[in-house]
Amino acid sequence: PIRRVYAREVLDSRGNPTVETEITVGEGIIGRDGITGRAIVPSGASTGKFEAVELRDKENRYWGLGVQKAVNHINRVLAEEILGENALNQCRIDRILKEADATENKSNMGANALLGISLAVAKAAAKAMKLPLYQYLGGTYTTQMPVPMMNVLNGGRHADNTVDFQEFMIMPTGAETFKEGLRMCAEVYQKLKQQLKVRGLSTGVGDEGGFAPNLANAKDIFLILNESVEQSGYQIGKDICYAMDAAASELYDSKRKQYYFPGESKAMQKEIYRTTDEMTAYYKELTKEFPIVSIEDALDEEDWQGWKMLTDELGKNIQLVGDDLFVTNSERLKKGIELNSANAILIKVNQIGTLTEAMDAVQTAQKAGYRAVISHRSGESEDTFIADLAVACSAGQIKAGAPCRAERTAKYNRLLQIEDELKQEARYRNPFAGESLKKS
Ligand code: PGA
Ligand code: ZN
Repeated sequence: PIRRVYAREVLDSRGNPTVETEITVGEGIIGRDGITGRAIVPSGASTGKFEAVELRDKENRYWGLGVQKAVNHINRVLAEEILGENALNQCRIDRILKEADATENKSNMGANALLGISLAVAKAAAKAMKLPLYQYLGGTYTTQMPVPMMNVLNGGRHADNTVDFQEFMIMPTGAETFKEGLRMCAEVYQKLKQQLKVRGLSTGVGDEGGFAPNLANAKDIFLILNESVEQSGYQIGKDICYAMDAAASELYDSKRKQYYFPGESKAMQKEIYRTTDEMTAYYKELTKEFPIVSIEDALDEEDWQGWKMLTDELGKNIQLVGDDLFVTNSERLKKGIELNSANAILIKVNQIGTLTEAMDAVQTAQKAGYRAVISHRSGESEDTFIADLAVACSAGQIKAGAPCRAERTAKYNRLLQIEDELKQEARYRNPFAGESLKKS
C-alpha cells in the first residue's frame, strides 16, 4: 500500500517551477525499505484552450509561476485520499484523484497536482513489481520501439525568431532499429548546424533543442533540411521523412477568421494572412514538394469543419495529428472520429491530468484506426516516463524534441536502454510503410 506521498517544487527545462512527486509503497520503515517512485510534471507553452488546468500560484515568487498551491494540494489534501491504497490499482487511484478535484478541467486541485501523483504511483508500482515501467504498463508482449519525430528547427512560441510554424521535424523512417534512427537524426542535426552556420544564420537553440534561425519561409527551411539530409548520406523521403507542427491555433486570428504569419509578414514587408482554404492549399503544396508524412495542428483548435475538409483532402496520404484539437481528451477525440477530423492524436499526459485518461485516449484512437503519437512538452525535465509509455502503448511514434538538451536526450537515451533490454525481440518499423492512413 501507499505509505507516503510527498511533493516539492522543482525547476523545469525553461527554468520555471513545476511539481515533483514521490510515492512510497511497501510495508517497511519509510525511507529505508519502502519503494519510492518519483515523477516530474512537464509544462507547455503553446497550450491548447481545452487542456486540463495547470495550477500556478499567481503570486510574487517566480513571477507568479510558482506551483506551491499544487504542491500543497498533494501534501495536504490528495495524500489523505490515497494513503493506504494499493499502488497497483492505477485506475482506482486516478478515479479517486479525479473525484477529489471534482471539476471537469481539474482546475480545483490542478492537473499538475493530479498528474504528479498519477505518474509517481505507476513508477512506484512498477518498481515494487520489479518490472521495467514499459512492461508494467504494457505487458509482456510490448516490443514495439517508436520512430522518433525530432524537432530540429524551432519556431512559434518556442523561440524568439521569425519562423511562424512551431516545429520542423525529421523522422528516421528508413532505419532498421531505434538506435540507428537516433544516430541518423543526430548526424543530420549536426549537418544542419553547419548549413546554418555557412549561411550566417544563428545556431542557438529553442525550447525543444532545435535550431532557431531567422528564417521566414517554410520552403526555405525544407530546402536546407534537404541539403542536410543529402549531405549526411541519406535519401530524402526514404531514410528520412519530414513532419511538422504548425501549432496553428497560435496563428489564428479569430476576428478575421484567418491565420496570421508574423515572421513571413516581416520578411515580405506586407501583412500575410491565410484563410482555411489557403492553409489547406499551402499544406498540399508543401507535401507535394517535400516528403512530409505528418502535420500536427494544421488548423485552429475549434475549427472542426476545417479539419474535416483538410482530412478529406489530405488525410489519405498524410498523418494529420490533433494536439490542441484533441488535448488528449477521449471525448474530444470521439467527436473528431465521428466527424472524420484528423487521423491521429498527440498524447500529452499533462493535457488531461491522469495516466488512466491518457491511456484511454490512446486506446480510443487505436480502436478507431487513428494513430497515437506520444509526446513531451516544450517545458520538460529529466523524467523519462514518456519513453516507457511510448513502448507500453505500441504507439510506434514519439515526439521528444531534438537530439540535443539533456531533458530531450534523456527520453532518447532511455529508449536506447529499452531497446537493449528487449534484445532481438525489439521491433522498429516505419509507421507509414505500405498502408493507407485513412481509416476504413
Ligand atoms: P507545447 O508544445 O508543449 O509548448 O504545447 C508542444 C506541441 O505543441 O506539440
Ligand atoms: Zn503541437
